[in-house]
Amino acid sequence: MPFAGRHVVLGVSGGIACYKSCTLARRLTESGAQVDVVLTAAAGEFVRPLTFEALTGRPVLASLWERGGGRALAHIELAKQGDLVILAPATAHLLARAAQGMADDLLTALLLARTGAVLCAPAMNDAMFAHPATRANLKTLAERGWTFVGPETGALAEGPSELPGRMSEPETILAAAARLLAPPGRLKGKTVLVTAGPTREHLDPVRVITNPSSGRMGYALAEAAFARGAEVILVVGPTDLPVPTGAVTHRVETTAEMQRALQTLVKRADVLIMAAAPADYRPAAPAATKRARSAGDLTLKLEPTPDILGSLKRPKGCLAVGFALETGGRDGEGGDGVARARQKLQDKALDLVILNDALEPGAGFEVPTNRVTIVRNSGAPTELPLLSKRDVAERILDEVEQALS
Ligand code: CTP
Repeated sequence: MPFAGRHVVLGVSGGIACYKSCTLARRLTESGAQVDVVLTAAAGEFVRPLTFEALTGRPVLASLWERGGGRALAHIELAKQGDLVILAPATAHLLARAAQGMADDLLTALLLARTGAVLCAPAMNDAMFAHPATRANLKTLAERGWTFVGPETGALAEGPSELPGRMSEPETILAAAARLLAPPGRLKGKTVLVTAGPTREHLDPVRVITNPSSGRMGYALAEAAFARGAEVILVVGPTDLPVPTGAVTHRVETTAEMQRALQTLVKRADVLIMAAAPADYRPAAPAATKRARSAGDLTLKLEPTPDILGSLKRPKGCLAVGFALETGGRDGEGGDGVARARQKLQDKALDLVILNDALEPGAGFEVPTNRVTIVRNSGAPTELPLLSKRDVAERILDEVEQALS
């Protein structure tokens, strides 16, 4: 985890979203970071310093004029030593003061002395966020190198809103912070296109053919690629999983829709990872209205859906990773899984195939773990042990980075 042993300064300004900063402070501390919380006077009205002290196990700084502890120049020390400054919530007032270069309290003085990374999570009323003054301040701070996460739409203190203003959730802020703290990887600046989940083919308006893919493997790949600095585009079939942090997500339903979306998106991809389990068959003649059960037996004629990987026109140099799903053990029934994966590599001009077995305990659909074999064009395949899908994703991305270099 990028947080272990890192020093994070969490600047908290006075908005109701302060309550989420407590969770953020806790999660950062649990992840191994040393967390120094700096409160503005207004933030101290919402959450007492004691709360953050208990959550981080460290003294909280709130005033330039505090004595004791040898921390008279704490704002300079923290500005220089912190690996990352996170501002959450950053109110409109804090943004205005920072953009103007004011230094009228400990937090703004720290920001003025700061030359390293700043991650800012704005939170305010939607009209305040939309105001040209705030827009100008955000632009100024972005030009100075600050990174922003959110704000998002959703409930504000004063009620529901369709406009951005609500602070991002702690998990989203953590993912953005992890990306900033991650060592610069070879995926930085690369566009990684990932597919995830099943697709669904209609028999009639209320019945579908699909499969039990949950989308977890693709989501883990999208999250891991984002943490490594990639621009991530995710094309996902029907799944209930919450959208992963950092990925630009496109939702599709059928295999043909997935194919159409990818045909456009692949043009800007440096890497394509087909972790989705698109439905391979669809009803040849779907009914426009619901078929009545009382009509008795139903025989369906199915036709194959398009082979997405086989049909995509990938740009030159776009690295392609496919999955091969088996049900007979790695070398089981129906022949050698590795040999068939090699055949897929060649037939679909892929760089890597990730072989897994849907029937193996802990692997395949609907479980948080997977056991895969990485098959390349040359060299022996690598059999990985049973790992979490996130760890499998990291190993696949290690291979991708190696192949890119
Ligand atoms: N795939 C695809 N288009 C489809 C079905 C699958 O591009 N209509 C992709 C999957 O996302 C996966 C790879 O192809 O990355 C292999 O999928 P798999 O179901 O194992 O094999 P198929 O290519 O469908 O071949 P077969 O069923 O003959 O093994």
